Amino acid sequence: MRKIVIAGNWKMHKNQAESLAFVEQFKSKIENTTEGREIVLCAPFTSLTVMSKNLHGGRIMLGAQNIHWEIEGAYTGEISGDMLQEIGVTYIIVGHSERRQYFGETNETVNLRLKAAQKCGFKPILCVGETKQQRDAGETENIIIDQLKQGLIGVDQNNLIVAYEPIWAIGTGDTCQSTEANRVIGVIRQQLDNKNVSIQYGGSVKPSNVDEIMSQPEIDGALVGGASLEATSFARIVNYQ
Ligand code: G3P
Repeated sequence: MRKIVIAGNWKMHKNQAESLAFVEQFKSKIENTTEGREIVLCAPFTSLTVMSKNLHGGRIMLGAQNIHWEIEGAYTGEISGDMLQEIGVTYIIVGHSERRQYFGETNETVNLRLKAAQKCGFKPILCVGETKQQRDAGETENIIIDQLKQGLIGVDQNNLIVAYEPIWAIGTGDTCQSTEANRVIGVIRQQLDNKNVSIQYGGSVKPSNVDEIMSQPEIDGALVGGASLEATSFARIVNYQ
């Protein structure tokens, strides 16, 4: 049975006060959310502790947006699994295209981070996806298969989520057609040994398109950027029909 996981990726948005205000507003809007749908907020590191203290149990799970593979050391600007463990984090986004594009993340470092996340007991969300140029050149499948093959060496597929995020659809409003997202996610599933891994779609998911996206048989959830920043909008996404 594949689990439905809807995660908000706040990226570098919201200070502590704004994060808490979101949670306060959001909590009441998800009181009747269908049982079994996992709701995750991947907030900036600076907001995680204060959010964790103010969730009081409930349905919201917390996620971080990065993890280093060492437990401590001279790695300026990085954060370890040990540090994340004490602040109530469950999920970790790994290999987001923005990390790959701006911070030199490679399939090799993605692999190290995935294994570190699992070793510390977190559930990693591995992001894969192609650029517009790669899609136009007919390389979508090859790029994604490569990201999966290299990223998943030695990774336990029983504790994993994959997010298909076509880079050209991120923050552009240019959503991938739901049938095409479904097709690519089918390709991703073929590559996995464990066919029950939940596979999300990410890229301009919003209240107006979430119902159609989630109606696709291969799509098990969404990884939402911009539309997760506002409580009413993200609640509508979580409460998709
Ligand atoms: O990780 C979520 C993401 O990159 C999609 O962002 O703003 O297109 O929903 P957005």
